[in-house]
This record gives sequence, structure tokens and C-alpha cells, in this order.
Amino acid sequence: MKCIGPFSQVVTLRGLPEQGALADEQLEIIEAGAVVVDYGHIVDVGRFDQLADRYPATDTTLIEGEHVLLPGFVDCHTHCCFAGSRAQDYAMRVAGKSYLDIAKAGGGIWDSVTQTRAASRSELVRQTAMRVNRLVREHGVTTIEVKSGYGLDVINELKILRAIREANLYTPADLIATCLAAHLKPRDFDGDAAGYLEHVVTALLPTVKRDRLASRIDIFIEESAFGTAEARRYLQQAKAMGFEITVHADQFSAGGSALAVECGALSADHLEASTDAEIALLAGSDTVAVALPGASLGLGMGFAPARRLLDAGACLAVASDWNPGSAPMGDLLMQAAVLGAYEKLTLAETLAAVTYRAARALGLADRGTLDAGKRADMQAYPTADYRDILYHQGAMKPTQVWKFGACIQ
Ligand code: NIG
Ligand code: FE
Repeated sequence: MKCIGPFSQVVTLRGLPEQGALADEQLEIIEAGAVVVDYGHIVDVGRFDQLADRYPATDTTLIEGEHVLLPGFVDCHTHCCFAGSRAQDYAMRVAGKSYLDIAKAGGGIWDSVTQTRAASRSELVRQTAMRVNRLVREHGVTTIEVKSGYGLDVINELKILRAIREANLYTPADLIATCLAAHLKPRDFDGDAAGYLEHVVTALLPTVKRDRLASRIDIFIEESAFGTAEARRYLQQAKAMGFEITVHADQFSAGGSALAVECGALSADHLEASTDAEIALLAGSDTVAVALPGASLGLGMGFAPARRLLDAGACLAVASDWNPGSAPMGDLLMQAAVLGAYEKLTLAETLAAVTYRAARALGLADRGTLDAGKRADMQAYPTADYRDILYHQGAMKPTQVWKFGACIQ
């Protein structure tokens, strides 16, 4: 058992509502605070002097100087297991070329599929570990969801999911794998979109389940990807096999989020095109609304209606969507802060969106707040005022990160 502190402020994020708007005054901020940690879990959180009295025989890790302690961030939506670059797409996009022009020139998701298929599993492990470790080091992220979806055939989807599992060995973060074989109908599949999804259900998902490669599946519902009718069947089949579900929804056109709610998805992600109807549906459900500002920045498009989602009562999370096409930056903290500035989110709402509300999008109740019984996943920033963290829009980096109670930086 050890006591870590004192911190100028400990922002616990505990005791807050799961859904809806939050005022900064609702945040619990413990001045001169500390945490007591045992076997990777938090035993107690409180004032440093009081904890020292309460746990007199405990070792103390003294924190020098001004620091604010927060829960480790959770990035609940990434595609960071990929090979190759799509800089060519970006250059064409900023030169005004259309999605269709880019696809015709060999760009788009299919380009990343080709490059990722050509990469070995060990190369994917190396690149994934490098990316997730940057999220840990520079953004204090301690839990990271990683999707497959650049394989799009049985062999390559399994290669990617195995690479994600192996990358877990080379990072202190927890990597949570999601099977996104339903990212796009592959060009080389002989059949229609519904036939491809049927193929995924019969030829891929049983192995994913048997080898415990992922407990979650995702589908991209969009005119250019999968329609709601075939997606409904796929989601129902995957659910019946015991998978948790999540959906790429309402990115360019609305529709996916309604199906996500109907199917009891853990989250509906993107939502840039959500209208009042989708906002009301999400707010009335347990499905977490995940905004992906990195994709809006990468594509030069509007943000998801985060303010309206919160005001309607939805649970809002923010994730980086780190991928080679729409969101190559991967800077979660910067993106969350910028979304907050544009959408007028309180600091409490933005911090909730990258901590306990993002953990909920992954179905994880054991992290995201600093509270007794939770995992000791934590990070400290070099300031005495927690408001400085989002104010610097990602330029202030954590000086220390703890995963499962162990200081990893
Ligand atoms: O979340 N929208 C679909 N999938 C990714 C983009 C993938 C890519 O362009 O490679 C996204 O933005
Ligand atoms: Fe995505």
C-alpha cells in the first residue's frame, strides 16, 4: 500500500451524473489531495494530511511542486493498427478534390486496406505500440480502444486483431480490441454488401470469439459503406453470438444512430450529421454518443452537435478516431479541448467525456474516476489549477502517468 501526494488539486470526477450537462461547480476538487493505492486499485482519496493520519504505516511517494491529478484518459475509438500513409488523400482533399476523385485515384479506406494487408503482423505490432505509447506519454491515455477494419478478409482481419493483442505486451495501456470487418465491402469480395456481412458472421466471427480476439464489433453505416437493413441483421447476429456492439453512425448522413439505439449498442460514434431526431433518440437511450473531433479536423468538416447532445441529456464521450484517412493526428487532449471551445462545453463536460463517460462507451465501470475500488490509472499535470489543462488545448503534457498503480512515466 502506498500514499501518493500531495497534489495541488485532485480532480476525482466521481459522483457525477452518467448523462447530460455538467457545470464545473459539480466537480469534486480536493486541494492538497492524495490517493492511497494498493494492488493496482485506489483504496482512498482525500486530503494528504488526513490520509497520512488514516494510514500511518503506509509508504509515501512524495510529489514535489505543483501538480494536478486526474484519472487516466480513455480513448474509446481508434483505428490505430494500420500500415502506410494517406497523405495523398489529404493533399487532394485540401486541393478541393471530391471523395469520388480521391477514390478514383486509388485513395480512401481501400488504400489503407491494401497497405495493411501487405504489412506483416510484427510490423503492425510495432507501429501500433508506437502510436498507443504516444497516447500514453503525451496525452495521459491509459485505456485505448483499437479497431481492426483494414484487413477486410478473414486472414487479414485475424492478423490485425492478433497484432492488437500482441501490442498489449509492448504498452502499459490497456488495448481493447474491436472487430470492424464491416468497415467497407471489400472490392475483391464476390457478392453484395449483405453477402459480405453474412460471410463475416460465418467465416470470421466464430474465430474471433473462440480465440477471444475481441468482445466487440463495429459497423460503418453510411451510403458509401453499409445500409441500415443489412446492418440490422449483422448487429442482431453478432449480438446473438455474444458480442457487444458499437456503430460508426451519422458521419455524413443520419440513420446509423437510430439503429444503434434500437440494437442496444454501447455507443454510436461520429454523429456529425445527427439531427434533433437522432439527438432525442440518443438522449433517451443508454447508448453513449461519441464525438470524434479529429475526423472533423482532418476532413475540414463540422463537429458533432456535442452541446445539443448534452443539453438533451445524452452521455457524451470524445475520442481521437486515430486512423490514416480522416484523423491521422491522434492528439486526444488537443481535439477534446478544441471541440469544447467550438461547442461551448464546460471543462467538466470535456473532462467527463474523456474519462468515465468514455469508459462507459467501452462498458468499463472500473476506471475513469479517482474513487475507492477503481483502477489506479492516473496522470499528473504541472500546474496548480486544473483549468490550465484544457486551456492549453493539448500543449500541456502530463508529467507523470500511473497505470494500475505503477508509475510508468
Ligand atoms: O472513423 N468512417 C469510417 N472510418 C474511419 C475512416 C477510416 C479511413 O478513412 O481510413 C473514421 O473516420
Ligand atoms: Fe472511426
